[in-house]
Amino acid sequence: MSEDKRTILRIEDLHKRFGDNEVLKGVSLSLNKGENKVIIGPSGTGKSTLLNNINRLVPPDEGKIYLDGEEITADNINKMRQEIGFVFQDFGLFNHLTALGNVRVGLLKVKKMNKKDANDLAMKELQRVGLEENADQYPAELSGGQKQRVGIARALAMQPKLILFDEPTSALDPELIGEVLNVMKNLAQEGMTMLVVTHEMGFARTVSDEIIFMEHGHIVEQGPPKQLFNNPEVERTREFLFKLTELYGEGDE
Ligand SMILES: Nc1ncnc2c1ncn2[C@@H]1O[C@H](COP(=O)(O)OP(=O)(O)OP(=O)(O)O)[C@@H](O)[C@H]1O
Ligand SMILES: [Mg+2]
Repeated sequence: MSEDKRTILRIEDLHKRFGDNEVLKGVSLSLNKGENKVIIGPSGTGKSTLLNNINRLVPPDEGKIYLDGEEITADNINKMRQEIGFVFQDFGLFNHLTALGNVRVGLLKVKKMNKKDANDLAMKELQRVGLEENADQYPAELSGGQKQRVGIARALAMQPKLILFDEPTSALDPELIGEVLNVMKNLAQEGMTMLVVTHEMGFARTVSDEIIFMEHGHIVEQGPPKQLFNNPEVERTREFLFKLTELYGEGDE
């Protein structure tokens, strides 16, 4: 297998239930190096649970998850979490740390880097998301879009093999969404491997390699955006995409 075709994430027959509510009913998917896949689906369908199963914020009941060929288990999860970036809807920043502090903390505490190297790398990642001027500001002094870009810089600084995004723009005012999507688009173009839960159809259509439509704990249909938008195999996919586009627009691109 060539380096480019390396499978970074493979999920096999994942099941998760909360009490008698079966939320994931056998989900399988995979992501090659540099691929960008978008997950869409109605509320309560298990999208967040799926992402949370990957880094075991919520451990799965059944099924296997492999990162770059190695199974993710309760035993190796601390090591694996260093390789999996996670960007949350509500940013998840430390309020008592500056932007630079938030990006640096994992490098110091987890990667045990020395202060100078951690600073340099954290500044480099803040530059990458356009925030070098804001390094010394605290979250309370940043806009939502800036906070989310700090969240992305923090994920990038760990040099992960994969970044998971759970509705990264849905807490943002409409005029701030574009700046975050632009950063994500650049990452995709630079070859970052990304699994993104989002309603942003412009991003899904123009940036993703594949859209995965989930409902009631199953993958209903997955395929390249063109296929899902123009020629879906399942009528339900057409209905849902129509509804999303009606609700959220077609996006800017
Ligand atoms: N910790 C939990 N305990 C019990 N039930 C939970 C827990 N987390 C999620 N659920 C349930 O699992 C189902 C799927 O939730 P999940 O958050 O994965 O959906 P989602 O597709 O991300 O929805 P949304 O689009 O609203 O974010 C829901 O019925 C939810 O109530
Ligand atoms: Mg969710």
